[in-house]
Amino acid sequence: MTHCAISDLLAGKYAVGETVTLKGWVRTVRSNPNFAFLNVNDGSCFDPIQAVIDNTLANYEEITKLTVACSVEVTGELVESQGKGQKFEIQAQTVNIVGLVEDPDTYPMAAKRHTVEHMREYAHLRPRTNMFGAVARVRNCLSQAIHRFFHESGYVWVATPIITASDTEGAGEMFRVSTLDMNNLPRLENGEVDYNEDFFGKEAFLTVSGQLNGETYCSALSKIYTFGPTFRAENSNTSRHLAEFWMVEPEIAFADLADVAQVAEDMLKYVFKAVLEERMDDLQFFDLRVQKGVVERLQKLANAEFVRMDYTDAIDILQKSGKKFEFPVEWGVDLSSEHERYLAEEHVGAPIILQNYPKDIKAFYMRMNEDGKTVAAMDVLAPGIGEIIGGSQREERIDVLDTRMKEMGLDPVDYGWYRDLRRYGSVPHGGFGLGFERLVAYVTGMGNVRDVIPFPRTPKSATF
Ligand code: 4AD
Repeated sequence: MTHCAISDLLAGKYAVGETVTLKGWVRTVRSNPNFAFLNVNDGSCFDPIQAVIDNTLANYEEITKLTVACSVEVTGELVESQGKGQKFEIQAQTVNIVGLVEDPDTYPMAAKRHTVEHMREYAHLRPRTNMFGAVARVRNCLSQAIHRFFHESGYVWVATPIITASDTEGAGEMFRVSTLDMNNLPRLENGEVDYNEDFFGKEAFLTVSGQLNGETYCSALSKIYTFGPTFRAENSNTSRHLAEFWMVEPEIAFADLADVAQVAEDMLKYVFKAVLEERMDDLQFFDLRVQKGVVERLQKLANAEFVRMDYTDAIDILQKSGKKFEFPVEWGVDLSSEHERYLAEEHVGAPIILQNYPKDIKAFYMRMNEDGKTVAAMDVLAPGIGEIIGGSQREERIDVLDTRMKEMGLDPVDYGWYRDLRRYGSVPHGGFGLGFERLVAYVTGMGNVRDVIPFPRTPKSATF
């Protein structure tokens, strides 16, 4: 490439006096009869760079008429800036206008503040705004940091399938994958659909989690992780739920619940530190415009002790809190977000790793505790958002697993390959799933997971 990224220019990677070329999109234009100032951004960092344009340039008139989002190529000398808040600018020698904006008055991302709801209607144009550019860079920084964390800790990244026959979470929230003609479904004698006739010769779905497949590789390579899209057909219209979201799922052999919890804590702190180091420009924007205090919160969390707490103790704390919750609290209920928030925000004021949940509200694969009532499950609850991680030690004892499956109405025969892991060299193991969009929403302070994934998929919405 013959041009420079603005991030490199602003970071001082080019010498003052050097002739440079940059390519990007106009943010603002100010002009008087002698000079024009063109702010150009290329998305490589939060800040644009200013090009100073002298009226001697042949196309000066045209340049002064540029509007937000026109694309340009500017060549000129890199000079130190006299202006406040910017170190460098470009004294332009040529400005090539690459693409104009057809009708600036109706351009949907014109330079004014828009609501996030408005911007959701323009998912194809919103990455051009300060806010969505910053979200995209922070999201990228977090994914790279996650891969780095696991790579440095000796994990193997495993690609688990997107199309699957198993309902890992057993919650019946799967999207069907089928090539059958909906208007002419093949039927069995009893009237049920004949999936033998379908593409895979059986029922197939989009995965809700890569965990079960992940367990197969951890049972050979010791430490693995998956990082990919997962799908849930749950009709939850909340700020924390998507029908398509990304999940990070490590799976660790020879590990118990305490080991799994420690990996979750170490991973979160590692990625918090990475984003503080690498994306302070974007974080400052979120702090100023989106949620006051996000930077301080991250700094605190990066060094905080995550508190371990048993589910049973949490119920006790909630019952004694004197708070009036919308959903009543008693031993055995699944905690709702108001409970999680009370615990993490008001009671502890730090992330909590909540452990040992009642077996009846958890999945079949979680390891039964000695008490026969609870399983070795854990959720990480973060102040300000609630659950961002769910995990567990897995049941490695085949007899206990079979009993549990039958209790939950599952047929062990359907899980033959999963049971094999317990038949051939079974080991204690466990892992967790991090909801990646919940992490990005938390780090940026963005209030809704729909605004931290480029093209959100939610009930009644899959336009772009
Ligand atoms: O607690 P969940 O359902 O756990 C599992 O799927 C396990 N198999 C993971 C494992 O142990 N390998 O989901 C894990 C996380 C949740 O804590 C939440 O952050 C996120 O995934 N999540 C969602 N994020 C966005 N939209 C949804 N609909 C989500 N459902 C779960």
